[in-house]
Amino acid sequence: MGYKIHIERTKRSRIGNVDFSNLPFGSIFSDHMFIAEYENGDWDNCRVVPFGNISIHPALSALHYGQAIFEGIKAEKNNEGVPIVFRPQKNFERFNLSAERMAMPQVPEEIFMGAIDHLLTIDRDWIPTSPDSSLYIRPFMFAAEEIVGIKPAERFIFCVFTSPVGKYYHHPVRVYVHDKYVRAFPGGTGYAKCAGNYAAAMMPLREIKKLGYDQILWLDGIHHRYLQEIGTMNIFVIIDGIIITPSLHEGTILHGVTRDSIITLAQEEGYVVQERDISIDEVIDAHNQGKLDDMFGTGTAAVLSHIGEFFYKGEVYELPPVELRDVSNKLRQRLIAIKSGKAEDLYGWLYHVPVGVYAAQIP
Ligand SMILES: Cc1ncc(COP(=O)(O)O)c(C=O)c1O
Repeated sequence: MGYKIHIERTKRSRIGNVDFSNLPFGSIFSDHMFIAEYENGDWDNCRVVPFGNISIHPALSALHYGQAIFEGIKAEKNNEGVPIVFRPQKNFERFNLSAERMAMPQVPEEIFMGAIDHLLTIDRDWIPTSPDSSLYIRPFMFAAEEIVGIKPAERFIFCVFTSPVGKYYHHPVRVYVHDKYVRAFPGGTGYAKCAGNYAAAMMPLREIKKLGYDQILWLDGIHHRYLQEIGTMNIFVIIDGIIITPSLHEGTILHGVTRDSIITLAQEEGYVVQERDISIDEVIDAHNQGKLDDMFGTGTAAVLSHIGEFFYKGEVYELPPVELRDVSNKLRQRLIAIKSGKAEDLYGWLYHVPVGVYAAQIP
């Protein structure tokens, strides 16, 4: 344990102001956050402080050139009240993969997991227990060079805050399959969770929202034919009982933790899962032949969210009623049961925060 974490507790908790039975997504923040600084080739100044604004220099390089990455992880409490985090190791690995692509330093596991351990111990009362709610954990890192001039930065800030959240989507998602704008292309940054990927999606997203759609289903950047992903979810299609999801081989798609979990659970249930290229034409053909059983997205925030309909080149394609989608409903329930500690954790996906250890150390 080489990194000492300094702790400054808030003098006034805000928890009494929160209605935990009616949580929005992402606009309520717990009492504390974690910060670490990278300079001269190492991490230093690790600390837990009261949640609040960070003062930054106007020339801060992340603001100008977008060298910034983030993650999203969820925690709940099991029946014994212990904070349980869903597969944080996967997010830790993906965070450092994103960091590598963006010429940012690796964050040591001790700091990444230490931040989660400390925050979930000190703010454990912020972990909601009502159905469909959880504590969303947001680790992020940005370049903190205070100079105008484009070069890979040498100073960085790593920060983690948490947010009690409710459901992301309250209705089947209306999806717009974009035939003009693209999100990623081979050799680009599609597989990284970097800020720029999301920035580039904002304008198309604003346009499709005006038309009444919730999210964009991106097609590949070369042929404009093959399904990639939807907003902040990986995409699954069920055709004639076979579960299909785009393969990750080109590096254009985020390696979703929920995607990986759903594939595992589907195979456990005996379903055939194909990871392969799937074109929008194949999806539409299946729809026209009455073989398109289901389409859904998977992601930490949205868990498993059904697609109600999709729009492509002037046509709207309706999907079957959600209550008839037995396969995805079963997989969703199974995932939710595991994440909340109610079903057996056969794959060792849950990380139990050692609250006893940290609570004794935290002043
Ligand atoms: C672009 C994108 N695709 C897919 C996902 C789903 O990934 P995960 O299941 O790890 O949350 C996310 C969310 O993290 C995302 O931002």
